[in-house]
Amino acid sequence: TWTTGNVIEEQVEAIREQVGTKRAICGLSGGVDSAVAAALVQKAIGSQLTCVYVDHGLMRKGETEQVEKDFVAATGVQLKVVDAQERFLAALAGVSDPEEKRKIIGREFIRVFEQAQAEIVAEGAADGEDVAFLVQGTLYPDIVESGGGTGTANIKSHHNVGGLPEDLEFKLVEPLRQLFKDEVRMVGQELGLPDEIVQRQPFPGPGLGIRIVGEVTKERLDLLREADAIAREELTAAGLDREIWQCPVVLLADVRSVGVQGDGRTYGHPIVLRPVSSEDAMTADWTRMPYDVLARISTRITNEVADVNRVVLDVTSKPPGTIEWE
Ligand code: XMP
Repeated sequence: TWTTGNVIEEQVEAIREQVGTKRAICGLSGGVDSAVAAALVQKAIGSQLTCVYVDHGLMRKGETEQVEKDFVAATGVQLKVVDAQERFLAALAGVSDPEEKRKIIGREFIRVFEQAQAEIVAEGAADGEDVAFLVQGTLYPDIVESGGGTGTANIKSHHNVGGLPEDLEFKLVEPLRQLFKDEVRMVGQELGLPDEIVQRQPFPGPGLGIRIVGEVTKERLDLLREADAIAREELTAAGLDREIWQCPVVLLADVRSVGVQGDGRTYGHPIVLRPVSSEDAMTADWTRMPYDVLARISTRITNEVADVNRVVLDVTSKPPGTIEWE
């Protein structure tokens, strides 16, 4: 019979056998899959694993800290954090086109990750250790979707920023290959990972970079991060995390509208709330959320986030609208 305990035991055994005395690298994205894959491999081979986290500055409030502190505390994993915020901002300067943003973010991500990878391999070599394996959080549906591939390194590249270069000499470790998402969450829970990571809703690899309609700047990211944190806090407090598949919070950076606050006229930006219900993100409907929760989110965002004077609700299903605005 299938139990998370069995799956963990089996995989730990298989990983030990596969990796032997060599070393492995795992990229963490902040998402569920890479976190659970890393935790499993850590359980199997401990300090033979090094994780890499590229901080591109496009994460939501508290998410980078979750990886750096909570994930490390829960697993004891060796983590290399690369602060690449300036680099991503520079590369994104002046760019408004959504696909162009995705390309830039994907490209920079791979460059930074490869650099970190090369450093780890070189450090290993200096100590006489062979860094021969790369851990990926590939799930069963990923394999089916991409035509039953046999462990090519870029299997997830059509979805994730973490799509990896093809010219790697690494062998892949994919301990989640037989699992579905809900099973991965159960395994993660059993491994003692924090709920904030295990129960995390879908979040795009390019992060907040594709939730600013217009150019991405530090100021705009900070503003959106605040608005998004407020929305998430209120949705969680209202117990809506399960009912809502995900709720993009979008900044219309190039739009301004007139408002009034205190005894002054304002000319600020709108924030869009996009709560959707879905089974698989292929189709979606806008979530009929309680008005009082919407009211709380709106009041708090306009009170607490400078330069935002209007909150609007997206009531479009998918199709015709996509879940994200970009
Ligand atoms: P759309 O907007 O196409 O989104 O309805 C469907 C699902 O995919 C996520 N999404 C992305 N995920 N990189 C990702 O890793 C991306 O570029 C990307 N674009 C959209 C979106 O959040 C939703 O869950």
